[in-house]
Amino acid sequence: MVRKAGLILIVICFAFTSLAQQYHEQYRPQIHFSPPAHWMNDPNGLVYYKGVYHLFYQYYPKATVWGPMHWGHAVSTDLIHWKNKPIALYPDSIGLIFSGSVVVDYNNTSGFGKNGQPPLVAIFTQHNQAREKDGKNDTENESIAYSNDGGNTWTKYAHNPVLINPGISDFRDPKVMWYAPQKKWIMTLATKDRITFYSSKNLRSWTKESEFGQDMGAHGGVWECPDLFPMTANDGKNLWVLIVNINPGGPQGGSATQYFTGSFDGKTFSPNNRQTKWVDWGSDEYAGVTYSNTGNRRIFLGWMSNWQYATVVPTKEWRSAMTMPRELKLLKVRDEYYLTSRPVKELSSIKGTILDVKKTKRGGNQYELDISTDRLRSFSITLSNDNNEKLIVGFDLGKNQWYIDRADAGESAFSKDFVKYISSPRIASDSHADVKLVVDAASVELFADKGLTTMTSIFFPKKPLNQVSLNSADGFIARRFSYTPLKRIWP
Ligand code: FRU
Repeated sequence: MVRKAGLILIVICFAFTSLAQQYHEQYRPQIHFSPPAHWMNDPNGLVYYKGVYHLFYQYYPKATVWGPMHWGHAVSTDLIHWKNKPIALYPDSIGLIFSGSVVVDYNNTSGFGKNGQPPLVAIFTQHNQAREKDGKNDTENESIAYSNDGGNTWTKYAHNPVLINPGISDFRDPKVMWYAPQKKWIMTLATKDRITFYSSKNLRSWTKESEFGQDMGAHGGVWECPDLFPMTANDGKNLWVLIVNINPGGPQGGSATQYFTGSFDGKTFSPNNRQTKWVDWGSDEYAGVTYSNTGNRRIFLGWMSNWQYATVVPTKEWRSAMTMPRELKLLKVRDEYYLTSRPVKELSSIKGTILDVKKTKRGGNQYELDISTDRLRSFSITLSNDNNEKLIVGFDLGKNQWYIDRADAGESAFSKDFVKYISSPRIASDSHADVKLVVDAASVELFADKGLTTMTSIFFPKKPLNQVSLNSADGFIARRFSYTPLKRIWP
């Protein structure tokens, strides 16, 4: 009896310590979503419904490397604090559960609704590994599932798949939206080197509308995870934005998120120019798409890694995190329209007291920095720790570039493709600069010139980079240099 009680006590203690350690491990993001354990990639099924933001994600629950994909699930009421939920979708005989989206079917066009409540409908790719092993091309088809309890539990449609592969090796990542003028659903699908648009009246049967992009944009890799949505620019112009993730072929090598602006008439997307633009110029934002059902707000979330090295980064218990959720806006600069990205305003829920600092600051492990200059000039901000590890972020006036230098920011030997110096052109035309940095245990997100240039990079220091200093050759003191501690989001 005594022996048994002792054993129970040890088991309880063990359970307690492992619980207490979760989300406290080395490199563990403290203000970004990461799965409790195991492998995660793309955000999926981003939908806001009845006060809840759902985050489904590509998940392999048996290892910290990619494997047969499920949809993991977490929920939040403020986009900042997340609650982990049970796995939402499991692989089946049709295939693994690859990326896709979720819509609220307000008019019950699908007929899956119950008791007068609209169903949530998930549209996702099923990838068939058996056919892949047989060397077949058509391994990917689109399937659907529905939820009658606000996204908690899901039932797969009995007659899946609903969109059959016409013989294309990459046929995936459906993003679906309601096109009100023609009362139909539009599916934006990544089909190898282009986007194919399909439409449907009921989410169950789909008709091809058009193709876009074979001869436009970046083509250094396969097109994946698209998104299509309307936006009104700051000058009142109404445009459509088409996001197309690409891997490899991004500006820093590997994965990245490009976009096009133009018009859409329910059938065809027509770009208003041929420029290749990037939502995020950094090395570590991929598969980014936006939430559905958020009215006029466009909330973007990306996977904070890069396929070049995602499976070998030095975290043990889990792999990868999501970016800070960002609000997108469309801004006219010279004669062009660009997306701007800024952390969602809900980030203020974890902000401590804003401090006006002069040149240096020693502080906590997660924080936001805001710096603005009186005129355009070169300057840099060094984030460092007592271990001599440092990350340098700055603006190079001669090259007209923003940059992140992570060469000395910690472990990097795990991959030769872990680019050390990451830079992007300045898009803004203002005569002064501003930059916001959001710093976590193993990541920095840079939002420069009101978010016109955005860059995300991960790094792996032995200890968090809790010291900050502002540097410039001419002894410049920022017009504004503020430091805001951010409280960790996990219980
Ligand atoms: C993008 C991607 C998607 C695919 C998923 C598989 O990172 O390759 O195209 O659906 O990941 O996990």
